[in-house]
This record gives sequence, structure tokens and C-alpha cells, in this order.
Amino acid sequence: MDRFVIRGGRALSGDVKVSGAKNAALPILAAALMVPGRVRFENLPHLNDVTTMLQLLGRMGVEVLLDDTGSVELDATQLSSLVAPYDLVRTMRASIVVLGPLLARGHEAEVSLPGGCAIGARPVNLHIKALEKLGVTFEVTDGYIKGRAPGGLVGGKVLFDKITVTGTENVLMAAALAKGETIIENAAREPEVSDLADCLVAFGAKIEGIGTDTLRIEGVPSLHGATHRIIPDRIEAGTFLVAAAATRGQCTLTDCEPEHMEATLVKLEEAGAKITRGDTTVSLDMEGCRPKAVDITTLEYPGFATDMQAQFVALNAVAEGVGQVTETIFENRMMHIPEMQRMGAHIDLHGATASVIGKPVLKGAPVMSTDLRASASLVVAGLVAEGETVVDRVYHIDRGYERIEEKLRRLGADIDRVRV
Ligand code: UD1
Repeated sequence: MDRFVIRGGRALSGDVKVSGAKNAALPILAAALMVPGRVRFENLPHLNDVTTMLQLLGRMGVEVLLDDTGSVELDATQLSSLVAPYDLVRTMRASIVVLGPLLARGHEAEVSLPGGCAIGARPVNLHIKALEKLGVTFEVTDGYIKGRAPGGLVGGKVLFDKITVTGTENVLMAAALAKGETIIENAAREPEVSDLADCLVAFGAKIEGIGTDTLRIEGVPSLHGATHRIIPDRIEAGTFLVAAAATRGQCTLTDCEPEHMEATLVKLEEAGAKITRGDTTVSLDMEGCRPKAVDITTLEYPGFATDMQAQFVALNAVAEGVGQVTETIFENRMMHIPEMQRMGAHIDLHGATASVIGKPVLKGAPVMSTDLRASASLVVAGLVAEGETVVDRVYHIDRGYERIEEKLRRLGADIDRVRV
């Protein structure tokens, strides 16, 4: 099991190339299940979650050909299984995104009930309820969700009670091959959902309203192969900007999409950062100043991303003033707070709101990763802390960040991966 050893206190400075988006890559890889032919995806991030998804597809009979330029070719001409087994699904909750494609292509599917990030209950009831509108019947037995639509899927009207990213993605994929029209209302508008929709359109799907909360899908009898480039990871990008801001440094991101990061950029400006937006670049400069505390409330896109919440708690912990951070998307997504308190952070947690009273410095300490974004925030805290911070269980961070320690070292951070 790996850990990071960080000796904090250095202002970060330099360039970072942003990788492809994990949360776009996972459903897009799953979409290959719907195509009886060869598809090619570019800008695939090299991450544990991506490897898990490729293994899952491999178990279903998909041929996988990776090359060293960050592209992958998949061929799902022959599917040998419509089952997503527990041993893989338990390591990655997002495996649920194979449900829609399997039902669309094979008219039946068995997916183990997911595990993954320990951030609240994270049920899949909304996925099931929505897919039932497309003619699927479900039963849950032996820890598996088993869905069947013997005559094929039929278009329907889906109104999500609550906005769900992977729920929207599952219905979008299922509807692409359903008979007739599907309308999804209260759809998630995250850029990763739009990237999946763009990819499906490249495969021959008919989708209108991409990027809005109403998606109209006219089902087609079959999809065909195409090449699609995965969008940049706005959460990875935002994490590096927060790390640079917290250390009073500077940083230029390349290969990113500034438009997708507006909520993060506005908060960083409020914190005192000078931000320069280019077409595919963002530069941040703190001009050596201590950040100012900012208030955050997480919301669905285009609101402030829950996946950036923990990193901003770390920023506020060393900022001037008091920042109120409220989590509205997930219950129990404040597990980084006790760890940061062990580093001397002054944080009062009441319900879903953390009052973060900024201190000039944190102190290095041994801390434990509990989930993907919490571990990123502990790395940020370690970079600003005096002395040595050891972040344990970095397998969480490897699920969603491509060689984070190498990218941070390029920015001047003193961070090592140690195998124990
Ligand atoms: C996705 C992202 C994750 C991000 C989250 C919110 C992927 C692979 N993961 O997760 O990084 O933090 O969106 O932006 O894209 N809910 C239900 N029933 C359901 C489904 C969801 O009650 O059937 C609830 C969840 O518990 C949560 C809220 O809806 O409170 C939003 O969750 P959702 O958007 O579904 O998150 P994911 O798609 O799992």
C-alpha cells in the first residue's frame, strides 16, 4: 500500500498538463458496449478507475487495445457476458454506468450493487426508476440488480426527482437504442454528461438539448464506430489551482477547458488569485499573498462542484478570515475534516456546514485518505503545512489523479511516493 510523504512550505510554481476527465472517460468507455464494431477514444487518463472499467469491459468480451499515446481502441462486436460482477463493481461505484448500455444492447443486464467511495449511502434507486420508464423490469437478488426488457427498450418520459450524473448517463445511453423518443427532464448538465452525449452522437445517436436540463433522444436501431476525444478533467485542473493558491504560488494549466471550471475560478478570484483565462489554458498567480477565506455551497453544475469542496476546505484552513463550506450533494462528505484538524486546522463542523477559521500555518502530521477528493485535500494541506505530512492509503487518490506526485514535483513540491 503506497503513501505520500510531503514536506510542505514551498510555493508551487510552473506548468501542469491536465489529463482527460475520469468522470467523462468512465461512461464513454461503457458506451463502447453499445457499438457492434471498433471505437477509438483519445485523451484517456491513466487511472485506476479507468483500468477497472477496462477490466470490466474485458470480462464482457470487449477487445481492448491500449496504445502509449493515451488512446484506446475497443471492439464490442461480440459480447460474451451481460454481467458486471461484484469483485470489480465493489472497487468502483461508477461501474453502474454499464447498466444502461448492457440493457440497450443485450436487453438484459446484471450489475452487482455498487461499493466505491464511502461518502454517504449513494443509492441507485433513481437509475432503476428511470430505466423502468423505458420498459425495463428489475429485481434485486443476491446483491445484484437484474434488469430485463425482452422485447427491447421503448422510449419514455423520465423526470428525475433529483439531479443525478450517472443516472442521467445511464438513461441517455439506454435511450439511444430504444424504440421511439425519450425525454429526460431535470437531467444533469455536467460537462461529462455532455461529453458522453457528444460521443454518442458521433456513434450515430440522435440527441437534442445537449448541455441543458432537457434531453430529447430519438432512438436508432444501431450505432457505429467513431473516434472521440475525452474532455479535460476540470476537477484535476481545479485541484492543482487550489494547491498553487494555498501555497501562495503560481501555476499555468495547459490542455484544459476554462469554461467548465468557472465556479472554481470565480472562488479562486474571491480568494485573491489573479486568474487569466486562455482558450485551453488557465494561469493563476497569488503574487505571494495569503489567500482570503471563501464561502462555498456545493451544487449541481454549473454550481460549485462537490468534487472541489474538500480542496477548498484545505485552502480556507490557511486563509485569512472564516470560510463557511456547505455540502448539499452528499451526506457524510466531510471526512477530511478530522484529518485536517490533526494538522492543526481550526474547523467547526455543524451538520453539513464547516466553519473554517483560517490559521497562518498548519503542522505536518500522519493522516489517512478516506475517499478520492478527501485525499486530494490532504495532499493540498500537506503542501502548505510546516514539516512532514504522511498521507496514507493513496490508492484512493490513484483512482482519480494521474501521477499526482509527479505533476506536483514539476511545480516544485517536495513529495515522494513510498511503498510500505
Ligand atoms: C457523479 C460523479 C462524482 C460526483 C457526483 C456529483 C461520476 C463517475 N461520479 O457521481 O464524482 O461527486 O456525480 O457531482 O461521474 N442519488 C440518489 N439515488 C440515485 C442516484 C443518486 O439518491 O439513484 C443521490 C446521491 O446519493 C447524491 C445525489 O443523488 O446525494 C447526486 O448523486 P449523483 O449525481 O448520482 O452522483 P454520481 O453520479 O454517483
